[in-house]
Amino acid sequence: MKGIILAAGAGTRLYPITKSVNKQLLPIYDKPMIYYPLSVLMEIGIKDILLITSEKEQENFKKLLGDGSHLGINMNYAIQYVPKGISDAFIIAEDFIGNDESVLILGDNVYFGKGFEEKLARARENLKNGRCTVFGYEVPDPERFGVVEFDKNLEVISIEEKPKNPKSNYCATGLYFYTPGATKNAKKLKPSARGELEITDLCKIYLDEGNLSCELLPKSFNWVDTGTYDSLVDASVLVRNYEKTNNLKVACLEEIALKKGFLSKEKLIEISREMINSGYRDYIIELIK
Ligand code: TTP
Repeated sequence: MKGIILAAGAGTRLYPITKSVNKQLLPIYDKPMIYYPLSVLMEIGIKDILLITSEKEQENFKKLLGDGSHLGINMNYAIQYVPKGISDAFIIAEDFIGNDESVLILGDNVYFGKGFEEKLARARENLKNGRCTVFGYEVPDPERFGVVEFDKNLEVISIEEKPKNPKSNYCATGLYFYTPGATKNAKKLKPSARGELEITDLCKIYLDEGNLSCELLPKSFNWVDTGTYDSLVDASVLVRNYEKTNNLKVACLEEIALKKGFLSKEKLIEISREMINSGYRDYIIELIK
């Protein structure tokens, strides 16, 4: 299974913050934003990861994450020259995905909270049964998102991009599990009225085949799309409160690597010696005591 993080957008809604720094390198409380989507892919158990960025930002991401060996993962990099839409990720990632299953996560989506592992495991199960999965979350303003409609049995009936009259209050968040062949289907898509290869259009192909599932994330779960001034601050506050209340760190990549067996304790002890002294390092030192 391959993991893709799409982090190439211009981040115009956050201007001037994002004029010289990519959105996904901005902090969410105590770590860069990109740690959060990367932590989700690692939590799923994915070691082969492709990070898609704009051309001018690639170097900074490489400085941060390198080849991934310090986390026991393989980081690969690709460029999206023009923000052609989310489904374009599968075209850029064609060689990387090959004939594999793939999970795409948007670089500005933050997920954390109890019960997530079970939801992720269910999406993996769905893949085994030839079904793709999106993750629904209840929002007050569904017209801003891709909106998922279900029947009584939670079977998906429709998925629509930014509808004027949303058929439900559930949006499809920025995490997608796809069966092999996503690239072939992405190549069939035509740009929408706003000129993008829409992820909802890709999902519709699977919905029409009867192969699209939706896992609902409970209200108590934390999902933030951090694209605006307010949501950027909200995400930081949520993470800080959650970490302090539960006495843990959200999206500590080294902790997940250890838990998943990507890194041995000995290797992490070695790596921690090289780390700059900070609260983040203190947390890792506690872990390996
Ligand atoms: P958006 O928030 O829709 O776009 P953006 O990040 O450029 O921000 P703004 O609207 O303020 O200009 O994108 C959501 C995520 O998807 C974000 O992490 C960037 C990524 N993305 C790409 O990398 N390429 C694309 O073509 C699109 C549409 C999004």
